[in-house]
This record gives sequence, C-alpha cells and structure tokens, in this order.
Amino acid sequence: MVILRSPEEIEKIRASNHIVAEVLEGLKELVKPGVTTEELDIYAERMTKKKGADPAFKGYMGYPSSLCTSVNSEVVHGIPSERVLEEGDIISMDFGTLYNGYYGDAAITVAVGEVTPVAERLMEATHEALYKGINEAKVGNRLGDISAAVQTHVENAGFSVVRDFVGHGIGSKLHEEPQIPNFGVQGRGIELKSGMVFAIEPMVNEGTYKVKVLRDGWTVVTLDGKLSAHFEHTIAITENGPVILSKVM
Ligand code: MF3
Ligand code: CO
Repeated sequence: MVILRSPEEIEKIRASNHIVAEVLEGLKELVKPGVTTEELDIYAERMTKKKGADPAFKGYMGYPSSLCTSVNSEVVHGIPSERVLEEGDIISMDFGTLYNGYYGDAAITVAVGEVTPVAERLMEATHEALYKGINEAKVGNRLGDISAAVQTHVENAGFSVVRDFVGHGIGSKLHEEPQIPNFGVQGRGIELKSGMVFAIEPMVNEGTYKVKVLRDGWTVVTLDGKLSAHFEHTIAITENGPVILSKVM
C-alpha cells in the first residue's frame, strides 16, 4: 500500500529534507583533494545534530556511519573511512535524516578537482535523468513513466542503469512502498496520486549495469571497475505537479 500524505505531513517531510539538502550543500564545499571520507561523515553528523535532527542511516540494518560516500567505481553504500580523496575522483554522497518523526533522503555526485570528460558526462547524464524522472511524477501518470524516462535518458547518453538498487517511497519510514526502479516501461505500474512522496535515485554506470557487494557487506561496486554516479531527490506528487522537497530554500 502506498501512503498518501496530507499537506501537513508533506511539510514535515520537507523540513527533514531541508536539513539533508543543507548538509549536502556544506559537504559539496568540503570536497577537495586531501580530505578523507570520514571527515565528510563527521561534518554531516555534526551539522545534523546541530539542527536538532538525527542521521537516518546510522544503525539502519547495522550501517555504521551517518553518510554514504561512494568513490569512482563504488555505486552506493560506500562506508566513510581514512580514504583520502584525490584529484580526478568522483564521489557520491548519500545522506538521510530523521526529524520530527519524518525522513529525508537525497544524494549528489561531485568532482574532486578536475575530472575526465567521461566522468563529467556521466555525472551530468545522471543528474539530468533524475530530473527527467521527476518530471513524470505527476497525477495520472504511472510509476513506469518515471522509470522509463530515467532509463531512456541514461541509455541515450551511452550509459547504463543499475538494476539491483532502486528508489523508494519515504515518509515515516526511510523505505516505504513502492519501489521505484530506474528502468521500466512507460504506462505500466501503479497510478500516481497526489500525496505520494518518493525518493527517486538513479544509479548510473559508465559500463555494465552489473554490480557486486564487497566483503564489508555494504559497498556496492561496478563489476567492470568503471565509474558510477548517483543523484537522489525526495519529491512530493501534488495537484500542481512534482515538488522537490530535498532542496535548500
Ligand atoms: N539512499 C539510500 C537508500 O535509500 C541510502 C540507504 S543507506 C543505508 O537506500 F545505510 F541506510 F542503508
Ligand atoms: Co534513498
């Protein structure tokens, strides 16, 4: 069952997502050669607590950190560590909060200094694909319209969409129904209704869409070792179209 949220509930989900967006903005400024992913995690947790919220991922299914930091061929769920960022890396930062009983969740991928043209194109195509998906998140459309829009954009750009991890409903739990794949068929799936709140999150690979999980039980990497990018927004479907909740005002 997909929960339909009242405008009041959506405002509370927005408040949580605002914090996520502010933290990601701060993180973006911190990313540079020489910084460790652990330092980014510490910043995210400290800022979140300062705003009176809690990091949502820490402890979730045993996840050890507040932030997910996935570098280069890491797709999602990279665990912050003493790893030092180097010029030419790309890093995905995925962050979630719990505030006043409601969850926020968003992700960005950024360049560490100068990166290769293909890395730039991968990040750009992933970001664009997220917005293509969001544009389809309107009353009367079907879930498959979101999925197909993301997939089509990614594949037209010459990249591939990860199949093993998907977006999700979000609200009073981090993961609610429905699952939102980044691949699918236009016109298929549930009908979209006003009040649905979704985390749409394309994970896009430079080469094969196939991934594997490392021995740490969390870090997802591309099977061919090529690059991967990830962007995510939490959005609400309203009578006036999609509204992005995970952005700074
Ligand atoms: N945005 C990711 C998701 O929705 C982050 C979850 S990380 C976890 O699955 F550690 F909480 F699992
Ligand atoms: Co998510």
